[in-house]
Amino acid sequence: MAAPNLVKALVLCFLLQRSLLFVDSAIGINWGTRSSHKLPPPVVVDLLKENRVGKVKLFEADPDILRALMGSGIEVMVGIPNELLGVLGSSPAACDQWVSRNVSRFMDKGGADIRYIAVGNEPFLTTYQGQYQSLVLPAMLNLQQSLVKANLASYIKLVVPCNADAYQSVSVPSQGAFRPELTQIITQLVSFLNTNGSPFVVNIYPFLSLYQSSDFPQDYAFFGGSSHPVVDGQNVYYNAFDGNFDTLVAALSKIGYGQMPIAIGEVGWPSDGTPSANLSAARAFVQGLVNHVLSNKGTPLRPGVPPADIYLFSLLDEDQKSILPGSFERHWGIFSFDGQAKYPLNLGLGNAALKNAKDVPYLPPRWCIANPSLDPSAVANHIKVACNVADCTTLFYGGSCNAIGEKGNISYAFNSYYQLQKQDARSCNFDGLGMVTFLDPSIGDCRFLVGISDSGSPVGCTNFCGLWIMALWILSYVRILNVL
Ligand SMILES: *[C@@H]1O[C@H](CO)[C@@H](O)[C@H](O)[C@H]1NC(C)=O
Ligand SMILES: *[C@@H]1O[C@H](CO)[C@@H](O)[C@H](O)[C@H]1NC(C)=O
Ligand SMILES: *[C@@H]1O[C@H](CO)[C@@H](O)[C@H](O)[C@H]1NC(C)=O
Repeated sequence: MAAPNLVKALVLCFLLQRSLLFVDSAIGINWGTRSSHKLPPPVVVDLLKENRVGKVKLFEADPDILRALMGSGIEVMVGIPNELLGVLGSSPAACDQWVSRNVSRFMDKGGADIRYIAVGNEPFLTTYQGQYQSLVLPAMLNLQQSLVKANLASYIKLVVPCNADAYQSVSVPSQGAFRPELTQIITQLVSFLNTNGSPFVVNIYPFLSLYQSSDFPQDYAFFGGSSHPVVDGQNVYYNAFDGNFDTLVAALSKIGYGQMPIAIGEVGWPSDGTPSANLSAARAFVQGLVNHVLSNKGTPLRPGVPPADIYLFSLLDEDQKSILPGSFERHWGIFSFDGQAKYPLNLGLGNAALKNAKDVPYLPPRWCIANPSLDPSAVANHIKVACNVADCTTLFYGGSCNAIGEKGNISYAFNSYYQLQKQDARSCNFDGLGMVTFLDPSIGDCRFLVGISDSGSPVGCTNFCGLWIMALWILSYVRILNVL
């Protein structure tokens, strides 16, 4: 008797766990919006659903995006920009207002499933020179009170996404420690997180390690084993991700929170703009990472324990991001700006490969190029102006359009600007040096983009055409009724 019951119980357990794993999948994605060609939020939400992505992280609390996420079943982390930390920390009323305007009103039945609020974004980053450091905790304490008042405190958790530069190690991961000037603040922060059952959220970027130091072993950045493993006592590290993760585990242990759950707020690999950012490297890294996480192997310091959640960086390319970090910065998406998969990727969520966005409201298929008869010496200033506002980062060394020649460069810059201006005819003038073409000038891997209309409906189907479709639809309906 006992044996079959046990088997049944085990099977049930297994099924339950499988379904839990499916619903509560660990892989989520960052959805940033610094793009001049924004996909309409409902198109992006469909893209997430088609790809079975169940968690999304936002950098703000954009009302249009939250509205599109309502009823989708997708779990959401909303973000509070660092610039707001000061006022939120000094005013409980401002926190109440922030929570009610940006969270509560989207959370009715059938609303958006907001689970986390990210208080600041990498507020301890070294380059901020401490300007946000002391503002984080006061803001968190006030926000927590606002959540309690709004009856949301048991459902929504506050977190603080930290850059991995908050901790360091003189040598091996087990020597990890928080930066001395942060130790006190992070100890208080972690104590708060621990009390509320929130994870520590960290952004880890092996790409930047490789990009910033020429002697960083190439294969250590990926997940295929390394000829330069890091030996740390009994533990051996074969990839930078695990090494970095365990440096954090060691740093947390040092302040007494060695068991603190860790979620990855951002991790990814860019695909363009510099030699080490290319499609095959991006695919290898992201697929390797997903497989590694889903294998549940964990890390040497946390064997068998994968990160709590992991948010890929990122969903879409964003052509308006600052390129101060490097010209790869606009190319982190696993999809291009228009929701088209850049490479095959199995996210372990049920689809063998990424599915593309549907119903993308492209502008008409036309491009602006350099007039073939132009004198290239006359255009330097035009290019500068165009590339100052539009994106030309694929032209740089290591970019996908770096080898298209001088005229190609000019055409690319003209077109980027023309699409940024929503194909306004005047924006292809360039003192008579530009011309519009209906033939796609893309060359090999170098894609000349067609922009996205921000009116939301596909161009060519304006209100008038919408009325037409409705009329036809009503007509056909009437005819069906007649037949019946
Ligand atoms: C969030 O709330 C603040 C404060 O009420 C407000 O200023 C801000 O515009 C809101 N953000 C969004 C994206 O609605
Ligand atoms: C792509 O990037 C990888 C890793 O950064 C590098 O090893 C490889 O040479 C690059 N491929 C090309 C074609 O540049
Ligand atoms: C095209 O522009 C890029 C970026 O400025 C430059 O590196 C490249 O040399 C240019 N190509 C030609 C043929 O001028």
